[in-house]
Amino acid sequence: MAPQNRRILVTSALPYANGPLHLGHILEFTQTDIWVRYQKLKGNTCYYICASDAHGTATMLKAEEQGLTPEDHVNKIKASQVASCDNFLINFDNFYSTHSEENRLFSEEIYNKLHAKGHIQKKTIKQLFDTEKGLFLADRFIKGTCPKCKTPDQYGDNCEACGTTYTPADLINPVSALSGSTPVEKDSEHYFFKLEDFTDFLQEWTTSGHLQEPVSNKLQEWLETGLQSWDISRDAPYFGFNIPGTDDKYFYVWLDAPIGYMASFKNFCDNKNMDFNQFWAKDSTAELYHFIGKDIINFHALFWPAMLSASNYRTPTGVFAHGFVTVNGQKMSKSRGTFINADDYLKHFDPEHLRYYYASKLTSQVDDIDLNLEDFLGKVNTDIVNKLVNIASRCAKFITKGNNGMLASTLDNPALFDDAAAQQSTIDEHYENREYAKAIRLIMKLADDANKYIDEKAPWALAKEPDKSDDVIAICTTGLNLFRLLITYLTPVLPEMAKAAEAFFNKSTNWSDLTPLLDHQINHFKPLAKRIEQKQIDALLAPSPANEEKPKKKKDKKAQAEPPSEIGIDQFLAVDLRVAKIIDANAVEGADKLLALKLDVGNLGERQVFSGIKSSYSPEALIGKHTVLVANLKPRKMRFGVSEGMILAAGNKDIYLLSPDDGAKPGDKVS
Ligand code: 2FM
Ligand code: ZN
Repeated sequence: MAPQNRRILVTSALPYANGPLHLGHILEFTQTDIWVRYQKLKGNTCYYICASDAHGTATMLKAEEQGLTPEDHVNKIKASQVASCDNFLINFDNFYSTHSEENRLFSEEIYNKLHAKGHIQKKTIKQLFDTEKGLFLADRFIKGTCPKCKTPDQYGDNCEACGTTYTPADLINPVSALSGSTPVEKDSEHYFFKLEDFTDFLQEWTTSGHLQEPVSNKLQEWLETGLQSWDISRDAPYFGFNIPGTDDKYFYVWLDAPIGYMASFKNFCDNKNMDFNQFWAKDSTAELYHFIGKDIINFHALFWPAMLSASNYRTPTGVFAHGFVTVNGQKMSKSRGTFINADDYLKHFDPEHLRYYYASKLTSQVDDIDLNLEDFLGKVNTDIVNKLVNIASRCAKFITKGNNGMLASTLDNPALFDDAAAQQSTIDEHYENREYAKAIRLIMKLADDANKYIDEKAPWALAKEPDKSDDVIAICTTGLNLFRLLITYLTPVLPEMAKAAEAFFNKSTNWSDLTPLLDHQINHFKPLAKRIEQKQIDALLAPSPANEEKPKKKKDKKAQAEPPSEIGIDQFLAVDLRVAKIIDANAVEGADKLLALKLDVGNLGERQVFSGIKSSYSPEALIGKHTVLVANLKPRKMRFGVSEGMILAAGNKDIYLLSPDDGAKPGDKVS
């Protein structure tokens, strides 16, 4: 059994300050939050730390696009991330930002130590440079034709069509995704962390119980092929921390991101008057766990332990990787309409329902988790409503009405209760080992047993017999105590429902005291969960009301004669009109009027737009044309996918696409 009163520090990966959270983030936060809540219930000292991952080119460009300073942009996103997590009952002890003074100091300190020990090396590298934007281009900001299969429009690191990996310089006709211009090769001096110096250390660290077995095995392959030094610098302009001793070199976002775990915890310690070193000093006996997605294993299981060890800090006790979320079996993708923002989910469903669903599927493995919405409806309605809450709702009224809310002084079936209570050690193991699916299966089996017991005893039938009232009270006291036991087991997953159950039982629950409540006054029972209806799923997948087509006005003469209502210049300027080039056009199956257009919008990237112009244009005739896009229209989920903007056209019956004169380039602002 695990020792008690452990001191544990836990993190989830820091979400980029680029946009709102989606259900993939929520999977990781839920997985971590359940584990942390469980540790706290066990009486361990456990802190859950996170932050917004503020730095990098993407943040810088996003801020620029919105006319904000990067700092203001990060603060805005951070506030929205905190609010969404709060709504999903994610109970952070501290949520900070990597753009903080604490993080600057730790990043400089760690870098200086690596430098002093000779683990930093400068090398001049050739990189593609966008002369229009005046910046070096990260691989994902370069597009071109795959050198192998010749598919156009592929990113600078790998081809989505044939899977080949390459460097941007290998692309045929590379263009900057930011400006559309052809980038030039330019020399730049970069700073590298010599990861290869840590081969022996990592060989040992990655095989001594800190990682899941398949992760450890995968890393052995990398170690065998030889570790490469890691480029930790980026050139100005860049939103990040200046590298000490330079004016125009910045730490790559991934250098200071994990250090953000330390910085957020330092900020927490300073606010709480706690000792940071107890958790981070080399000889710390506290435990440190990072919950992460499988895509960022190398940063956490190679670079990070090497950096920590070289700078004389403790290394993680465990790094726990999980898989990706798919929706209805599909990768989450905006164009497929399977990308669900955290806040959009919350408009239609209870946060605890997703927490429960995720828990019922989470294991300690790296497998992907499918959010199948039909299965979600079925599981929540069957498990939470029909099985769990049903135990309480079938028993409560016999106690509240039949015995003035007083539980009996003995259980009708103490053995049944004791058997269920004896399962706690197994449930403990499952939570501790992150085998939540196993814990849920066992708890639901106990719920089945409880329901079977109530079915067999049929207190509603006994209640009709005058001399059986004591039996009814004892049976329902057993049922309610079983329910209380199960909700105690589920507290890490369903914290709000557990709280509501405490109010009903008029008594708080305690993980380490499962004694049944007897001779105890309870309160009136209020329904603890609502069924999910199919229409909620339909609403989640339907276009949001803000984007729905307005009802058509009657075309009477008066209406036609009315001048259009006026708007102010500010409202007009808020509309972001851009030149867009149509790079692909296709008919949409099942839609008479629509064409699906793929647009190149220069530095805004590519967009998919559904447009009702099929009656006037064949798809082939459109490819290569330039038009005008309303670029900041909220994306609209349609039956066929997501429409990311609207193109401008004149006319009603015959439609005429608005096109700029020759010379206008994709991404140009229209004003
Ligand atoms: O992949 C990501 O979303 C990164 N922002 C995670 C950073 S985790 C940590 F290292 F900061
Ligand atoms: Zn290819």
